[in-house]
Amino acid sequence: MKTIAILTGGGDCPGLNAVIRGVVRAAVLKRNWKVLGIADGFDGLVDGPRIIPLDMAAVKGILPRGGTILGTSNRGNPFAYPVEEGGEVKLMDVSRRVVENFRKVGAEALIAVGGDGTLKIARQLNDQGMPVVGVPKTIDNDLRGTDVTFGYNTAVGVVTEALDRLHTTAESHNRVMVVEVMGRDAGWIALESGIAGSADVILIPEIPFDMEKVCQAILARKERGSRFSIVVVSEGAFPAGGGKIVQLTADQNLGVERLGGMGQWVAAEIARRLEIETRTVVLGHVQRGGTPSPFDRILGSRFGTKAVELVEQGSFGQMVALRGRRVEAVAIEEAVGELNRVDPEGELIRTAEDLGVMVGR
Ligand code: F6P
Repeated sequence: MKTIAILTGGGDCPGLNAVIRGVVRAAVLKRNWKVLGIADGFDGLVDGPRIIPLDMAAVKGILPRGGTILGTSNRGNPFAYPVEEGGEVKLMDVSRRVVENFRKVGAEALIAVGGDGTLKIARQLNDQGMPVVGVPKTIDNDLRGTDVTFGYNTAVGVVTEALDRLHTTAESHNRVMVVEVMGRDAGWIALESGIAGSADVILIPEIPFDMEKVCQAILARKERGSRFSIVVVSEGAFPAGGGKIVQLTADQNLGVERLGGMGQWVAAEIARRLEIETRTVVLGHVQRGGTPSPFDRILGSRFGTKAVELVEQGSFGQMVALRGRRVEAVAIEEAVGELNRVDPEGELIRTAEDLGVMVGR
């Protein structure tokens, strides 16, 4: 009987349990294999091995559940792992310990479910002789190699519902509602939910925005008779010439750190420049928690079952990916490194602009 292991790393994401369930059902039920869960991502192989046996009973009822029943990594990358030594925390390469602990587990392969960071680690471990199959995950949808990641559809649904709800309160009070959404490096969530939720302004990291033009767009709406506006801001968006928040010096940071985030800064600027009432809503981890959408349950299930097929074929160093309508295998290599970001000249941005949405420029 073959034994395989699975872990989930990085930020949690709706659909992770669908992947775990898919792996267990395809392995246990269809192939009579044994599946071992590694607790808390790679942490469970650094200070372990810490194992959660995954039989059919363990995955019962988890399909609609958010989060991950395996827990996820909190301490990080085994190639640069924080270790305390003499009262000081140093980053050490503990990857050999991971490989040794994996041997102790007695599994023939590891299915690593995660985003850019987890997949990079998976590829490096695979290069060191540990047989790994990857499953791409992130609500931000910023991974290359796959058309879409699971979790993203749920996040867009949550934000769209929030925008629908915010419309009625914004309209009642003639306010500008600024909604900050996740997306450190890529504006997919802001852009697609902004289109779906009929935002008036969408600010994303890929297009540094001009605050003057944002204000003009709000004024133009007022002139057309709409006394409220909805502004969606990716957490990673930044003003043209300002640089990203993290790169700003104390003088340049425009009070962003003090105010709490880019959404709050944009709201404060609109209020100051136009002398109108604004409110900020930071959706935060609500976008990541809770039940996955049907699309993400299906994609997670397809990814999980396909990952088992790749293990069966011995296709290590590969990850599952959605290409068009098919789930296929691609080299993990293809997904890591450069991120999948919104093309400022692409069709989706043109659609937004043709709809009259202001995208910061
Ligand atoms: O999963 C990616 C992400 O959603 C980013 O958009 C966000 O910056 C980050 O997670 C925050 O995660 P955490 O609070 O867990 O560090």
